Amino acid sequence: MTNKTVLVTGGAGYIGSHACVELLESGFNVVVVDNLCNSKIESLSRVQQITGKPLTFYQVDISDKAALTEIFAKESICAVMHFAGLKAVGESCEKPALYYHNNVCGTLILAEVMAAANVKQLVFSSSATVYGQSGSPQYSENFPLGAINPYGRSKVMIEDILRDLSTADSINRTKSPWKIALLRYFNPIGAHQSGLIGEDPNGIPNNLMPYVSQVAIGKLVQLSVFGDDYPTPDGTGVRDYIHVVDLVKGHIKAIAALEKPTFAQGGCKAYNLGTGQGYSVLEIIHTFEKITGHRINYKIAPRRTGDLAECFANPELALQELGWKAEKNLDDMVSDTWNWQTKNPQGYL
Ligand code: NAD
Ligand code: UFG
Repeated sequence: MTNKTVLVTGGAGYIGSHACVELLESGFNVVVVDNLCNSKIESLSRVQQITGKPLTFYQVDISDKAALTEIFAKESICAVMHFAGLKAVGESCEKPALYYHNNVCGTLILAEVMAAANVKQLVFSSSATVYGQSGSPQYSENFPLGAINPYGRSKVMIEDILRDLSTADSINRTKSPWKIALLRYFNPIGAHQSGLIGEDPNGIPNNLMPYVSQVAIGKLVQLSVFGDDYPTPDGTGVRDYIHVVDLVKGHIKAIAALEKPTFAQGGCKAYNLGTGQGYSVLEIIHTFEKITGHRINYKIAPRRTGDLAECFANPELALQELGWKAEKNLDDMVSDTWNWQTKNPQGYL
């Protein structure tokens, strides 16, 4: 157990709220900074309900340098988990400047404030979307980067900036160098097993899991399966779905690893967080039907622009260096999603 304080940016959001639970349950103090642009403060009440522990919340934008500086002066922060960011691929194509400003400039300001406060341990929410086209559907961390939309490019740019900050420390032989873990998520789904926190998308969901879940509960009429002519076993797209609780456990391991020999000299390292196992859209639908007992009404639709046939993680590096491995299976992911959906049919009210 520890009494260290971790600042969680974006802590009111889907993944951030699960991270707050895991941090509190691991004995950390938690300070959340979130501007609530894509979340509700109710998620943080639920975090406190689950854990029985308090946290500190600031409704602040990460681009607000003065407010962030004050928070670092007031709280004894030792590390930052940085989830704050905009994440809708389609919206990023319509409003690229918004995405670059919010995600890239916001992270730069956060990093400047951290360096000024001499807090240089950072765990960053990156994404499998940073990987460019490669010959293999199984992605390793050393594969070339090359995102294909502004959202993905904002993640590549942030990774580049953070690597540069770390390299500069080694050139300047800084005494307390940056220690940064870039965590590349595959497809996070599921919810905390209490059903008190989960994913609460605004409007019609873009992603498969919340869409299927809303069809099952009758909020949406029909799922469109984007393409059944991919070179995959059943023709539909294959992804590496990972339970959000496994994902945030990876963050706790990463925070711990920043104190260990791997990062003794500082550094900035990327880790895939995935299960290493791919499932197709039809497999997801059939698992949902099995777990919920509801039929999922779906139709085959044309491929969605920009989608890959198949994408899954090589998760070996995270196992070797962080000692982390996903433990939950697809049935767990679906039943926890369903538990959250049925307990909160309108999301957070
Ligand atoms: P989310 O939208 O639920 O959470 C993001 C949180 O950040 C929200 O609470 C939002 O209000 C806050 N936020 C956004 N911009 C901010 C700003 N400028 N200042 C302060 N707060 C701000 O999203 P999520 O699914 O929890 O994703 C968390 C992180 O993980 C994001 O960086 C996202 O890009 C990354 N990621 C998510 C997925 C996924 O499928 N969910 C996959 C890969 C990577
Ligand atoms: N799909 C459908 N119908 C839908 C939605 C999705 O058939 O209504 C299919 C897609 O074609 C794909 C699979 O379901 O084959 C998964 O699609 P998602 O939209 O759920 O997820 P993606 O893999 O496209 O992208 C997600 C996030 C990205 C992130 C990426 C990797 O949306 O932000 O995972 O982490 F970068």
